[in-house]
Amino acid sequence: MQLVKTIQEVRAQVAAWRREGLTVGLVPTMGYLHEGHQSLIRRSAAENDRTVVSVFVNPIQFGPNEDLEAYPRDIERDKQAVSEAGGDLIFNPDPSEMYPQHFTSFIDTTETTELLCGAVRPVHFRGVCTVVGKLFNIVLPDRAYFGQKDAQQLATIRRFVRDLDFPVQIVACPIVREADGLAKSSRNTYLSATERQAALVLSRSLRLGREAIEQGERSAARVIDIIRTELQREPLARIDYVEVVDFVNIQRVERIEGETLVAIAVYIGKTRLIDNFVWN
Ligand code: PAJ
Repeated sequence: MQLVKTIQEVRAQVAAWRREGLTVGLVPTMGYLHEGHQSLIRRSAAENDRTVVSVFVNPIQFGPNEDLEAYPRDIERDKQAVSEAGGDLIFNPDPSEMYPQHFTSFIDTTETTELLCGAVRPVHFRGVCTVVGKLFNIVLPDRAYFGQKDAQQLATIRRFVRDLDFPVQIVACPIVREADGLAKSSRNTYLSATERQAALVLSRSLRLGREAIEQGERSAARVIDIIRTELQREPLARIDYVEVVDFVNIQRVERIEGETLVAIAVYIGKTRLIDNFVWN
């Protein structure tokens, strides 16, 4: 397992692998890796001859009042996590490597980014799509792996890959959770012990929503109401959004039919957490 910091070094290594006829998987991350990230790396290692993991806290996907500075970083620990999960190369560029002076070109998407996180984080998905597009061009992977944890991000990446003809296969991976149900996230480290307990309300409220659908409920409004009611019982929780949308276009639906995404964002204290499930 090696770590490189420049685009040129990644290209040289991938080109060498290509000359040997090897396939390449890419797992883009912002580091501070946990078992959610490792599940993506393991899947890539199983499906490709070589796996590149990018570790880059991407400044352009953070809004002015978001947690760019505070975002946890620990590259030594990440090296351990990548090698344990079977990754072959870490790409860990400095911001100036990815964004030289006069960087002024962006991948901007509409429709899938109108609601949910797109509605409350205006520059977020432009930053995500731009960095992911750059990573695709740098690594030229056969496949790239993304978690359903960030379901809107996944739908949006699928969209620009299709619209702009990026020659990469997008592979979606299920959400990895703690034993008590909390979805694993690098941002969970912001939570105090009391907040950590309160944060269980996210997965609990979604479970109630899912159970209602399983028992035949088809009204999106009713499912939203069930989830909101549970979230409101937790005094430390402040709802950012609760939405029921179709998983392809990320547009609101009234009736739950076809592949439906039920997604929530909730502040626990100052920490904003997201969670979701897809019903089919
Ligand atoms: P990051 O939050 O580090 O997540 C990297 C990848 O890991 C994403 O595809 C995310 O969905 C996945 N992931 C995170 N937690 C997960 C969990 N509990 N279970 C399964 N998968 C999980 O998402 C980003 O970084 C960035 O926006 C990025 C795509 C790297 C662009 O900067």
